[in-house]
Amino acid sequence: MDRYIFGFPEMLEIVNDAKAKYILVTGGCGYIGSHLIKALLIIGKKIINIDNLMNSTENSLKNLPNVVTCHISLSDENSLDQIFSKYRIETVFHLAGLKSVKESVLDPLKYYDNNIISTITLLKIMKKYNVGQIIFSSSATVYEPALKSLQETDPINPKTPYGRTKYIQEMIIEDFINSEQGKGIILRYFNPIGCDPELIESPKNIPENLAPFIIKVLKKELPFLTIFGNDYDTTDGTCIRDYIHIDDLIDGHIAALNYLQDSKKVDIFKSSSEIFNLGTGQGYSVLEILKEFENQHRPIPFKIGERRKGDVPVVYANVEKAKLFLGWSSKKSLKEMVKSIIKSV
Ligand code: UD1
Repeated sequence: MDRYIFGFPEMLEIVNDAKAKYILVTGGCGYIGSHLIKALLIIGKKIINIDNLMNSTENSLKNLPNVVTCHISLSDENSLDQIFSKYRIETVFHLAGLKSVKESVLDPLKYYDNNIISTITLLKIMKKYNVGQIIFSSSATVYEPALKSLQETDPINPKTPYGRTKYIQEMIIEDFINSEQGKGIILRYFNPIGCDPELIESPKNIPENLAPFIIKVLKKELPFLTIFGNDYDTTDGTCIRDYIHIDDLIDGHIAALNYLQDSKKVDIFKSSSEIFNLGTGQGYSVLEILKEFENQHRPIPFKIGERRKGDVPVVYANVEKAKLFLGWSSKKSLKEMVKSIIKSV
């Protein structure tokens, strides 16, 4: 097999090496999932990807060989059972989930239904097949906003249904890991940006985040960027976020996997699951980001709009815990993040 295989259940019959250990990635056709799969392939892992293609297409993986992609819903217990019965799954990277803050406010039940039920179904099947290692994609959105760097032990207070589903999933996973004596890692992402030119991101809906909007302006699909407010209590009035290069974010996942699979290291976990921030520890304002585009490429036209509901002035990570336990820290500068975006346009 030298290309990815797509489809279910046909693929079950195609690749099945009974002895091989697989890593299951959920949501592998998405932005972070496709970058993660590429990195896992590079370190020689065998991958099963489950994606319902609700917000992405299989196109994102077309340059990657040897990825078995199952087009099923994670809430489909029977299909999940078939996959776990055919493949020896060692570790699960659980990335799949709905992620539009705006949509989650308009249709919260869709978010609770999709994000929570799929996680419970996945964990039920993991329990059935004694798979006790999981790495979960969470978000900095779970924290109570603060004007200081956010630490894993800081208070939690997600403000939107999307954020609440992330925190509920964290708690469900922690309870599962404790009851099964498994090992789990929860990764709280800050603001990943940039992309690998080989991976074609193919979201079905344009995400509402800053970088996708800047890309639309660069492609002249939008005349200008609307900056959501310039009257915040920050140096230039625009919000500050902790942007992290996607390559660094993915390295953080690989560090988490190594940590989880190294039993000696995991034994020093205070509990059987641990939470890590994945950020750079450095915040930049929206205007500082735009300035970097201007320095490297051209000015991004913008207008100042109303504040976006739910935005907070400052969000950045304390990254000491990941440094200490995972031996990981981000390496790429804002300059490299912006360069990567410009290259992708
Ligand atoms: C947003 C979500 C957060 C989610 C994260 C990742 C909200 C309130 N927060 O975080 O829950 O986990 O995305 O998906 O939606 N900006 C503009 N103009 C734009 C777009 C963004 O000025 O067109 C500004 C925002 O006000 C913010 C910054 O750019 O200050 C970054 O925005 P975004 O990329 O949406 O990330 P977050 O707000 O951090």
